[in-house]
Amino acid sequence: MPALVLLGAQWGDEGKGKATDLLGGSVDYVVRYQGGNNAGHTVVVGDQKYALHLLPSGILSPGCTPVIGNGVVVDPSVLLSELSGLNERGVDTSKLLISGNAHIITPYNVTVDKVTERFLGKRKIGTTGRGIGPTYADKINRVGIRVQDLYDESILTQKVEAALDVKNQMLTKLFNRRAIGVEQVVEELLGYADKLAPYVSDTVLVLNQALEQDKVVLFEGGQGTLLDIDHGTYPFVTSSNPTAGGACTGSGVGPTKISRVIGILKAYTTRVGAGPFPTELFDEDGEALRRIGGERGVTTGRDRRCGWFDAVIARYATRVNGLTDFFLTKLDVLTGWEQIPVCVAYEIDGKRVEELPYSQTDFHHAKPVYEMLPGWSEDISKAKSFSDLPKNAQAYVKALEEMSGAPISAIGVGPGRTETIEINSFL
Ligand code: IMP
Repeated sequence: MPALVLLGAQWGDEGKGKATDLLGGSVDYVVRYQGGNNAGHTVVVGDQKYALHLLPSGILSPGCTPVIGNGVVVDPSVLLSELSGLNERGVDTSKLLISGNAHIITPYNVTVDKVTERFLGKRKIGTTGRGIGPTYADKINRVGIRVQDLYDESILTQKVEAALDVKNQMLTKLFNRRAIGVEQVVEELLGYADKLAPYVSDTVLVLNQALEQDKVVLFEGGQGTLLDIDHGTYPFVTSSNPTAGGACTGSGVGPTKISRVIGILKAYTTRVGAGPFPTELFDEDGEALRRIGGERGVTTGRDRRCGWFDAVIARYATRVNGLTDFFLTKLDVLTGWEQIPVCVAYEIDGKRVEELPYSQTDFHHAKPVYEMLPGWSEDISKAKSFSDLPKNAQAYVKALEEMSGAPISAIGVGPGRTETIEINSFL
């Protein structure tokens, strides 16, 4: 008791860092369970802004133990530079725990990610180019390198050999690139071993013991529901499971231990990379959402695609994650529109469809059916309680809640740590 999951209900970048950090003070462990440095959290603490890619955002809360679970893929060079960057700013990172079973993003995985995307041409996924997909592919193909392998040179060498066997054929014969040498990779990886050693531990045991002692454990999803390899808009997805089930497989904590699943939901919609996006805007409204919302990727620096709120997607997120609550973020960005369109259903080949179609073809053909909700012009960033919000903003939140299928328990009204309205406590 009590384990909570916080995850993205849309295509990622919903503002999870802020939500995690809000809970950070009362949470004993913050666990990342999937993804790698393709994620990007911006956390604002006081007047300091931190951009985290791989580290759990609990790293910024002094009482909290941050954990990188077995389901995460770790680029050691990125991890070490993120740690030293925080140390330089006076953040103590010594409590970090890393699962020995987490897989390592090797330099050849990054190379394969980039050359594959180039090879795909206009069919590319628009990956972050961080080697995420190829590392998970190696894991599933059983030729992955795990953190624990750094501590047995002979095993590490054999595993790198096995992984490079086919890849070098592919790189030289198909992609016209130079082969990658085994020794060079082994040497680079061994160079990380001592630096990572203080953090490596049996995180499954640690987390289960913590739960037995009634500690509060928060699972922090990277990316979002629609980017899930199983439940997202495949193939335009990431290669892991950001949905709630991933918290169990990616940490070794059983589903019976999870008491709350909170979906982070932006008051409008954004997406990075390629793939279908029914409410996407190509006009000045989309441009305004991007500008006012600061919709530029923390990890990639790419502009995010922007659109109106899509309730069909929110309902889907409630279903596949078993959401108990929503944290609605960035409501302030919508201030100033006279009317705000909300997508309540889709029209697919002339028919109204209320739920997300399971067929990829149908989803690509989905056109949004909009309902117009009245907007507000008052500054809402100082609102401390729901009743402080203008009537139309309250009605907007209530309408979203009704359409989305779970209570909205918190609302973000500005980027700062305190610019949040708490309606129901998460703990
Ligand atoms: P990958 O995770 O780098 O393999 O990229 C696969 C897809 O997921 C691409 O469309 C990326 O833009 C998207 N993606 C990966 N991480 C994030 C994230 O943290 N936020 C939003 N989109 C992401």
